Amino acid sequence: MKKVNLPIKWRLTVWYGGVLSLILIIFASGIFIYFKNSLQDSIDAKIRSIGEVLSSSMTEKHGASVFGNFERYLENVLGRKPKGKFIQIMDSSGRIGAKMSDIEGEALPTSFNALERAMRGEIVYETIERTKPRLRMVTIPIMDNKKVTSVVQVGTSLEDFDETIRKLLLIMIISIPTSIIVTIIVGYFMAKKALRPVDQIRRAAVKISSSNLDEKIDITGRRDELGRLAETFNAMIGRLKDAFQRINQFSIDVSHELKTPLTILKGETEVALRKEREKDDYQKLLLSNLEEIDRMSCIIDDLLLLSKADTKEIKLNMEEVALRDLIMDVCMNMKVVADKKSVELQMSELEDVRLKGDELKLRRMLLNVVENGIKYSHVGGKVSVSSYVNDGHAWIDVKDDGIGISEEDIKYVFDRFYRADRSRKRESGSGLGLSISRWIAGAHKGSIEVKSQPAQGSVFTIKLPI
Ligand SMILES: Nc1ncnc2c1ncn2[C@@H]1O[C@H](COP(=O)(O)OP(=O)(O)OP(=O)(O)O)[C@@H](O)[C@H]1O
Ligand SMILES: [Mg+2]
Repeated sequence: MKKVNLPIKWRLTVWYGGVLSLILIIFASGIFIYFKNSLQDSIDAKIRSIGEVLSSSMTEKHGASVFGNFERYLENVLGRKPKGKFIQIMDSSGRIGAKMSDIEGEALPTSFNALERAMRGEIVYETIERTKPRLRMVTIPIMDNKKVTSVVQVGTSLEDFDETIRKLLLIMIISIPTSIIVTIIVGYFMAKKALRPVDQIRRAAVKISSSNLDEKIDITGRRDELGRLAETFNAMIGRLKDAFQRINQFSIDVSHELKTPLTILKGETEVALRKEREKDDYQKLLLSNLEEIDRMSCIIDDLLLLSKADTKEIKLNMEEVALRDLIMDVCMNMKVVADKKSVELQMSELEDVRLKGDELKLRRMLLNVVENGIKYSHVGGKVSVSSYVNDGHAWIDVKDDGIGISEEDIKYVFDRFYRADRSRKRESGSGLGLSISRWIAGAHKGSIEVKSQPAQGSVFTIKLPI
């Protein structure tokens, strides 16, 4: 069978409607039973007290004089005329000795059983249903010398009692369902109102798509769970929007970056094809083309690496790395580039430390940073590389006295395709070097930071755990 899931507002309503009904019914039945019993008890007590007064007075002045004027006698004994009562005296054979009735309708139809029990000395209560109105009657034995000689029966009409009970029942039958219905209706609307933000959130979620991330859930001034949910949701949309914007920007950058070499390739090739050329010219052209192709190939490799890094597809090939050897090797490689620009590449205080890492990746990171140092130095500048050990980490500083990085740019230099000075981009590169370096440092559970002063130079500090 398919499970039916009621909406929350209905479930809430059904639950508290049900609980409230249960409480009301138990409470009302309690009151009803207590009220009915105590009313009945008080009726019983009243007829019994009359009966007992009579029974004791009869024993004292036993005699026929009593029966002569029964009503007068009762008035004497009870102090007033009994209202709405039925009183009769009966002997052991059930013969009525005296009788007074203030109740409409006639003879008191006592049951034989009650009479018999009373004769045995018991006080017997009975409710007589046959008559209209119903009667409540007590039969009290009259004792003479420890023997029951006759009984006195006192009855009273249950008309008022029945009427009161009927009214009470009527009040309950009307008020309980009414209050249940009212609470269910009020409860339903309250639940609906309370849960309205959930619906707003749902509708907002439906509307959200990558092109529509400006949708916000508008729950002003709610400081409860739902308000916080909406806030969280809005914050999430904000983050998604940022992420989408970054991806968008990234795609724009990628296409732009690849478009430039392609335009050059196309332009050069077209020019070359305009007329017959010498063999040398073709060779030159092909060499230049190859350069652009290499450039694109590098960008694509870098992008591939970064995308794989994003999806955590890259496994580091961890091995023991001698840091000093690695730095020396990198500097040797970079010496050619530095010499070309008459930049002095210096190695100082290289501490001999071994750490676990992926040598190729670490080399790539160092090459990137040292290359930047040379690239962004003035002709005749100086780049120095040093390394040392401090609190369980190996630190590598790459310091240059080049153009430096301005305060606005420094936050972004590690971002993909970010170049501080876009106009010099042919010389500077694609702007992926530092993003890759930061990923490599992070993958080794280390970090890379930069401090820089425009026109003074920069220091890149790499921190790697040993
Ligand atoms: N040592 C430095 N001095 C001054 N600016 C720097 C330095 N290193 C990096 N930058 C700035 O940070 C930007 C990003 O550097 P990154 O290495 O990521 O890219 P790139 O060198 O331009 O290109 P790529 O390294 O991909 O060939 C650079 O374009 C440059 O503006
Ligand atoms: Mg670089």
